[in-house]
Amino acid sequence: MSNKTAIVTGASSGIGLGIAKTLLAQGYSVVANARKLSTAKVLDQTDQCFLVDGDVGIRSTGESLTEIALQKTGRLDLVVNNAGIFVLGNFHDYTEEQYRSVMATNADGFFYVTQPAVRHMKTQGRGHVVTISTTLVTQPIAGLNAFGVHFSKGALNAATKSLAIEYATTGIRFNTISAGCIDTPMNPPESHEFLKSLHPIARLGTVDEIVTALLYLDAAEFVTGEILHVDGGAHAGKW
Ligand SMILES: NC(=O)c1ccc[n+]([C@@H]2O[C@H](COP(=O)([O-])OP(=O)(O)OC[C@H]3O[C@@H](n4cnc5c(N)ncnc54)[C@H](OP(=O)(O)O)[C@@H]3O)[C@@H](O)[C@H]2O)c1
Repeated sequence: MSNKTAIVTGASSGIGLGIAKTLLAQGYSVVANARKLSTAKVLDQTDQCFLVDGDVGIRSTGESLTEIALQKTGRLDLVVNNAGIFVLGNFHDYTEEQYRSVMATNADGFFYVTQPAVRHMKTQGRGHVVTISTTLVTQPIAGLNAFGVHFSKGALNAATKSLAIEYATTGIRFNTISAGCIDTPMNPPESHEFLKSLHPIARLGTVDEIVTALLYLDAAEFVTGEILHVDGGAHAGKW
């Protein structure tokens, strides 16, 4: 059993909820976040699990996650930047509102959550940041136009490599999981047949398969700057 403390954003649904539940089962203390986490009633507030409602696109939410981890457990070992939204649409039609919302959650959220965490990890001399991205960043698909997703998630891939180098000697690691299409509430059942066709392994991925990758990365102390593809082979080429 682990005695680590993790922050997990987007923990009310899908991948984030699966990650939070598994970390709790493995003994981690978890500071769990989503905008409507407490009303979602999917996790219980306990002395091991601390629920924080808030938008990661607002700086004070990110600051409060690190503060609560330290107040309640005295340590912070892992940040899982999972909260994210997909806003599809042609570039020429993309509205300012769509652009701002996708950048606020996906990109600003990374900055606001990760910076206070890293400030503490630096004094602690250890830590790990894992971010959930998408293989669409490097394998855009004809007809699946999602400029804002590529722009924001591409920045997260770049940040992972940049920060892995910047902090390599401090004990803080940065990795990203590049997901294919995963069976979560983000993808309604009517989309599944189409989404299966986007992977050489012609099925959707499962939340458990993302969780497996996260647990590997958290245990893999010599791995940093990695973009780990969990995407049914979609990054490998055409099929
Ligand atoms: N599912 C896929 O096929 C797929 C593929 C590639 C990458 N991903 C990435 O994986 C991550 C999780 O996706 P998912 O499929 O699990 O999605 P999901 O089921 O829709 O869950 C998204 C979670 O993020 C939270 N959230 C959204 N905006 C937020 C904000 N501004 N601040 C705080 N929390 C916020 C949501 O809760 P509230 O609404 O209560 O805030 C929810 O808990 C995302 O980053 C997504 O881009 C997913």
